[in-house]
Amino acid sequence: MRIVLGVGGGIAAYKVASLLRLFTEAGHDVTVIPTEAATRFVGVATWEALSGNPVSNSVFDDVPLVNHVRLGHEADLIVVAPATADLLARAATGQANDLLTNTLLMARGPVLFAPAMHTEMWQHAATQANVETLRSRGVTVLEPASGRLTGSDSGPGRLPEPEAIFDAALALADGLRDAGTGESEGIFPLAGRTVTISAGGTREPLDPVRFLGNRSSGKQGVALAAAARDAGATVRLVAAHMEVPAPAGVELIEVETALQLREAMLSAAAGSDVVIMAAAVADFRPADVSGTKIKKRDDHTDPVITLVRNPDILHELVAVRDDAGTSQLVVGFAAETGDAHGDVLEYAEAKLKRKGCDLLVVNHVGADKVFGQDHNSVVILSRGGAEPQSASGSKHDVAAVVIDRISAELSRVFPRT
Ligand code: CTP
Repeated sequence: MRIVLGVGGGIAAYKVASLLRLFTEAGHDVTVIPTEAATRFVGVATWEALSGNPVSNSVFDDVPLVNHVRLGHEADLIVVAPATADLLARAATGQANDLLTNTLLMARGPVLFAPAMHTEMWQHAATQANVETLRSRGVTVLEPASGRLTGSDSGPGRLPEPEAIFDAALALADGLRDAGTGESEGIFPLAGRTVTISAGGTREPLDPVRFLGNRSSGKQGVALAAAARDAGATVRLVAAHMEVPAPAGVELIEVETALQLREAMLSAAAGSDVVIMAAAVADFRPADVSGTKIKKRDDHTDPVITLVRNPDILHELVAVRDDAGTSQLVVGFAAETGDAHGDVLEYAEAKLKRKGCDLLVVNHVGADKVFGQDHNSVVILSRGGAEPQSASGSKHDVAAVVIDRISAELSRVFPRT
């Protein structure tokens, strides 16, 4: 396999010499492209000696070979390690100011970034947005390892071990991500699994211009879809009204009303290993939908809107799964405020029993909490009676915890055969 190994300007560049060794010893032909800054940490001679190939970081070397086009085109796989904050930013914004970024823009095969930087840089909103942009384009960005960093600090930001990067890179290149074999399970725990997720809030029409809706933005459902995709799953996103775009690389099925959502979910759930109901479904809809705009009346009588119950989709998905005896994990969300008769968790426990789903992700809601916000705080309850698990942070962080929990539950309850 032809591999381009991009090396960023970080102290962890020295560890990448071992990664290069692993690739060449496995028989791969590796061209190393260090950034200018990387050559301050490890010299070009090291990369040339270990790879057996000439090394350059300039688009102006060997111009007749048109390296800035050729290397990206010919590569079966591009691995960037260490991926610094600067390199992630340049890749996310499509810059082409050195040989490595040109090569990334020309890539036709899979691309993997193994980040390494100080924790603050990794957690900075700018870096996280760049990582999300890259992931949404189908690029694999590994999570950095946690531990001692260059100074006296420690935390997430260490370069994953060369063996881990090597395994992830080969799994990616071999398409194991889709095949779902055991080898890829550690890196892409949902490889080979199909996950159907509902997101957003339904709208129930009153007349051609008005509807009854709710405050769901769809952000949590979209974050779940992105996290499931990054875990290697094939993702179907059934989206009612959302304020945010669907992530790239997922199948999008758009709906408007609870009845349409029900239909789409029942059909998408068939053949899915996991079904997640993150959408806010209207419990009621107007009994009659006026074909024309409802007008104010001259006699000053006000219209009365009669509501009828919508079906409980989550409950129905569980019933269909149980009737068919399918190996499927069904996950619900619960929005609770608590009141004088019970607190949030008491209501949530009762809801878990009533709905019969395997996991219930419980949100504490209020006018200023959860809806439309970027942060969330949840408790995950399980039908099996495991200890409630808490997660909080950005909706992206919460999604990662929920998807991790789902992956673990899935391999426990329905291990791969
Ligand atoms: N849900 C559903 N169909 C409905 C209503 C809700 O599938 N008609 C799903 C939601 O997507 C969520 C879970 O059920 O996964 C719980 O939603 P929530 O609004 O908290 O519960 P309700 O069943 O509506 O109960 P209540 O409003 O009485 O608290």
